[in-house]
Amino acid sequence: MTSQEKQEMVVTPWEVSGDIDYDRLIEQFGVQPMTQSIADRIAKHAGYMHLQLRRGVYLSHRDTDWWLDEYEKGNKVGLYTGRGPSGHVHLGHLLPWFFCKYLQDAFDADLYFQMTDDEKFLQRDELTLEETVALTYENALDVIACGLNPEKTFIFSDTDHIGEIYRLGLKVAKRVTYSTVKAVFGFQDSTNIGMIWYPALQAMTCFLQSSREGRNIPCLIPAAIDQDNYWRMTRDIAEKMGYYKPAQIHAKFLPGLAQGGKMSASQPDTAIFTTDPPKVAAKKVMKAFTGGRDTVEEQKRLGGRPEVCNVYAYYYFLFEEDDDKLVERERLCRCGGIMCGECKKQLAERVKVFLTEFQEKREKAREVLDEFLLKPLNEKE
Ligand code: TRP
Repeated sequence: MTSQEKQEMVVTPWEVSGDIDYDRLIEQFGVQPMTQSIADRIAKHAGYMHLQLRRGVYLSHRDTDWWLDEYEKGNKVGLYTGRGPSGHVHLGHLLPWFFCKYLQDAFDADLYFQMTDDEKFLQRDELTLEETVALTYENALDVIACGLNPEKTFIFSDTDHIGEIYRLGLKVAKRVTYSTVKAVFGFQDSTNIGMIWYPALQAMTCFLQSSREGRNIPCLIPAAIDQDNYWRMTRDIAEKMGYYKPAQIHAKFLPGLAQGGKMSASQPDTAIFTTDPPKVAAKKVMKAFTGGRDTVEEQKRLGGRPEVCNVYAYYYFLFEEDDDKLVERERLCRCGGIMCGECKKQLAERVKVFLTEFQEKREKAREVLDEFLLKPLNEKE
């Protein structure tokens, strides 16, 4: 395949591949494009504009403006996100979790964090239930290392915490028919029945804080856009259950180190895992796809192409906080003033520093893990 040919886009909760066309997704999924006014309102409450808001990581939303209205009226608001524990966490997963930390602080919001060890067991032939449960607690260390507040964060495993969530899951399940999930998720006769029930549990968390606190609390879900099927289903039944429809803010995918597609755990050479030894991660960066030319001579003459470069994308999304320095890097690249080798080397250094620091926090998280886990209601009171 040449780089000119477009790969067909697939975006479902279980597969993301091909060339992602965000405009088409916005239309297909019926969501609203992100607006400057929403970014400004969030920044006003936070006291600063997060890098991810400045750089357009959030491409679309549903009802985030309403969620902000509620907060501005003085009402309590909540957050929900989650993780399917199918392997180690990579940098792409961290983006929305960092953003949750920012929103948690800005809006003094509780965050319900769902670990779907059941979903990943049901969905992936190669994973045992014991593995996905173990990964739940490994991955929870990464969540905690993002700096979340233990008083306001409630991490739960679908399997271990089923006693806390089953009743609410049932109330959702009773309102969703097989024909609906078939249409929304494309389930077939050969789909195992666990998968058919599972969407009720992912939906349930949208109402979990409201249910536990006995009053309606607007819920915002920061997540990648591939989870949207679940929210369409949930929004249909929310009001019938007496809850608000959950709001969403959708993140773009962080690209992998290879050309095209998102960072994916199924291609370990092109993903940077939080558990990678920093030197190993640095080596992966040195092999990354760039927007460079075939020869140094050409690169000096024509300049690089940051718009297709994954190394540039990493500076853009994560590793260059300073807007002026980012602009300068782009300028240098375009005029052939910096070669890809040098640019990769600088990124590799930053990745090493980032991982070293993150891994320290991740290890410390083992000691406080319990403080972050969802407790039965009567214990928490
Ligand atoms: N289904 C998600 C996954 O496979 C996990 C998940 C559950 C989730 N609830 C969520 C992700 C809410 C984002 C927001 O990774």
